[in-house]
Amino acid sequence: MSGVEDRVVVVTGSGGGLGREYALALAREGAKVVVNDLGGARDGSGAGHNMADSVVDEIKAAGGIAVANYDSVATEEGGKAIVETAVSEFGAIHGVINNAGILRDVSFGKMTSDEWDAVLKVHLYGAYNVSRAAWPHFREQKYGRIAMATSTSGIYGNFGQANYGAAKLGLVGLSNVLAIEGRKYNIGVNALAPIAATRMTEDIMDEERLSALAPALVAPVMVQLMSEDCTDTANVFVVGGGMVQRVAYFQANAVNFAEQPSFGDIVAKWDEITNLEGAVPAGHPIRQQ
Ligand code: NAI
Repeated sequence: MSGVEDRVVVVTGSGGGLGREYALALAREGAKVVVNDLGGARDGSGAGHNMADSVVDEIKAAGGIAVANYDSVATEEGGKAIVETAVSEFGAIHGVINNAGILRDVSFGKMTSDEWDAVLKVHLYGAYNVSRAAWPHFREQKYGRIAMATSTSGIYGNFGQANYGAAKLGLVGLSNVLAIEGRKYNIGVNALAPIAATRMTEDIMDEERLSALAPALVAPVMVQLMSEDCTDTANVFVVGGGMVQRVAYFQANAVNFAEQPSFGDIVAKWDEITNLEGAVPAGHPIRQQ
């Protein structure tokens, strides 16, 4: 029996791209999938049913179990309705993949508040809305799995994506806190930064690079993060083109001052403070993990 068999998993934004591959892979392993998609364009404009419906048809044609949902993750009501679709159709919810996303790329000096808000609303608020609606179910049944779609644009930065990078690293912060709060309820929460050829990346990378980045290469790792057998939590993975890589913070040797340091003391030690030589994987410096 696979670690997702008979589990009910919501995949937001799974009418195309990576989400579609996650939904197909989960269904192949026996999960019951809620295929959520607003059915809009890459920048979030427009809406339609056919994207989610066509993925549900594909899953059913292959003998799997799935239901479509067309609500937007960007509102509280939408998040509730997506989770309600899982519960009313399949009687439970066990996993959420917060995958829905849009782009409004523009350099920071030209970014409007609308462009900032729209991206935050779908990625960060979207993950909040759906996870928040699923959370009481997870706590009550003492089981749940959440995966956040983060991005190297947040982890490392990327030109023209201040809104997107902020939202995507915000999701890692949300994941870290939910991992701590969910631990005693067997709720595992992780983040995955995919690298894949989809409509989101079609004009960012050249054709040769894109041809090596099939979204299907990412999907098995997402299935693993939804699996009952996967007890990892608060981890971040970068996955694409056949590569699966865990990434983490490192911490340098701390510089300690026995007495109140002056500005001059800080300047004198600055090279030592910023030197990463001998750094080790980071944990909270005061609280025990
Ligand atoms: P995509 O554009 O094919 O998929 C995003 C899906 O989300 C679309 O089907 C869209 O209709 C849906 N969506 C948008 N707004 C929605 C809303 N308010 N409610 C419900 N659904 C909505 O792009 P892709 O590449 O498959 O992206 C999937 C996720 O992976 C996104 O979160 C993206 O930021 C992330 N990602 C993708 C990377 C890549 O290399 N393709 C790199 C890093 C992160």
